[in-house]
Amino acid sequence: MKIRFMEQKDLREAAEIHKETFSRQRHSYQWLESSLKAFPRFFCFVIDNEDSILGYIIWAQKSGFRPATVLDLDQIAVHPKCQSKGIGKALIVESLPLVKDQLANQNSDIKHITVNTRADNFSQNLYKKTLKAEVEAVIKNLYSADEVFMIARNVSI
Ligand SMILES: CC(C)(COP(=O)(O)OP(=O)(O)OC[C@H]1O[C@@H](n2cnc3c(N)ncnc32)[C@H](O)[C@@H]1OP(=O)(O)O)[C@@H](O)C(=O)NCCC(=O)NCCS
Repeated sequence: MKIRFMEQKDLREAAEIHKETFSRQRHSYQWLESSLKAFPRFFCFVIDNEDSILGYIIWAQKSGFRPATVLDLDQIAVHPKCQSKGIGKALIVESLPLVKDQLANQNSDIKHITVNTRADNFSQNLYKKTLKAEVEAVIKNLYSADEVFMIARNVSI
């Protein structure tokens, strides 16, 4: 398995994963294509096994291009057939140094990482384990339910 930058040719497969994992979200292809086109505002990566795409992750620079970047984990998804096998963890841990390299090109480094998810989504545990992120706020009824906002402060990679 390899983590690499998402390319135009990956969009169809990545959009299938988006469609299957985020049942309330629409227009999967356009969603991912617009994120991919928005580099370096967004950094998009996929994990593949040479045959197919197993998952993707999107990171976003928040509130301008700053020397001390507040980086958002905008979205992560793993194909339903491949979940709970460590792929989500690998996507986070292995893409982050690649993001850091990109930020170094603009003389920036990561200050904090933010991430939000539904309060009932187990991915909270994933963010705690991989990023040491902590819940800092819960917003009632934001998208489809209560949403937790997590921050990993003073990130050192
Ligand atoms: C969330 C998601 C990306 C995690 O990827 P994954 O490959 O399934 O997760 P991993 O196998 O790397 O597991 C990482 C940790 O998550 C937790 N976890 C994984 N599967 C779990 C499950 N079925 N139930 C509870 N916790 C689970 C565990 O803490 C695990 O760590 P551990 O293996 O050390 O115990 C994936 O399940 C997914 O695509 N879900 C649907 C989309 C989504 O909800 N995205 C996140 C919101 S933006």
